[in-house]
Amino acid sequence: MSSMNRLFISVEGIDGAGKSTHIAAMVEALRHGGHTVCQTREPGGTPLAEQLRELVLHAPMDALTESLLIFAARRDHIEQVIRPALARGEVVLCDRFTDATFAYQGGGHGFGLDTLATLEQWVQGQPGSGPSGGGLLQPSLTLWFDLPAPMAAQRLAGARVPDKFESQPRAFFEQVIAGYARRARMDAARFVRIHAEQSQDAVRAQVLAALRARGLLSP
Ligand code: TYD
Repeated sequence: MSSMNRLFISVEGIDGAGKSTHIAAMVEALRHGGHTVCQTREPGGTPLAEQLRELVLHAPMDALTESLLIFAARRDHIEQVIRPALARGEVVLCDRFTDATFAYQGGGHGFGLDTLATLEQWVQGQPGSGPSGGGLLQPSLTLWFDLPAPMAAQRLAGARVPDKFESQPRAFFEQVIAGYARRARMDAARFVRIHAEQSQDAVRAQVLAALRARGLLSP
């Protein structure tokens, strides 16, 4: 992993796991700690990718089309926003990244993981890393807000009009969680599992501890 990726953080979890509140707190803590923070999200983060987000979240389509649009959005986001911000020495804090594709499209929709891995290689291959890859642009730290599906559903109930994913049945989210767990096992050094069923203060403490442990905040 290049040292540039050290400042790339992603935040993951099923809908209703509580990412949004804690992302705001993380941005504040990192800025207070002297970092310039580029706060962004997927799908989205550029004008083109936000347009693709609208389609992905609201238009019916098959899983391959969905995956291609998500990776197209990701490509634009990486080129226009993520790489330039990392090159400027900023912390990139991204609300979801490729683990979400493996969890939602791969786990939730049962779409082929090999195809997703190929798209990941195409889109996140590092310049000059060669055809056999190895050098993928990935976050150095992924905070996975892990919450049982029934609790997440309870938290979401009545909160807002659900999008295409949020209106999926519980079994879908069980599969999404399994998808995240698989990614976490495959890349254990990158993932920190946040016990998201705890109180907001306790979750915040877990998040800040993870940032300190990676040297992103001083002890
Ligand atoms: P989310 O990040 O939860 O934003 P908001 O809080 O505004 O709803 O919503 C994005 C949705 O997109 C979420 O349901 C998961 C889905 N998604 C995928 O299915 N695949 C992906 O690769 C990404 C990044 C998101």
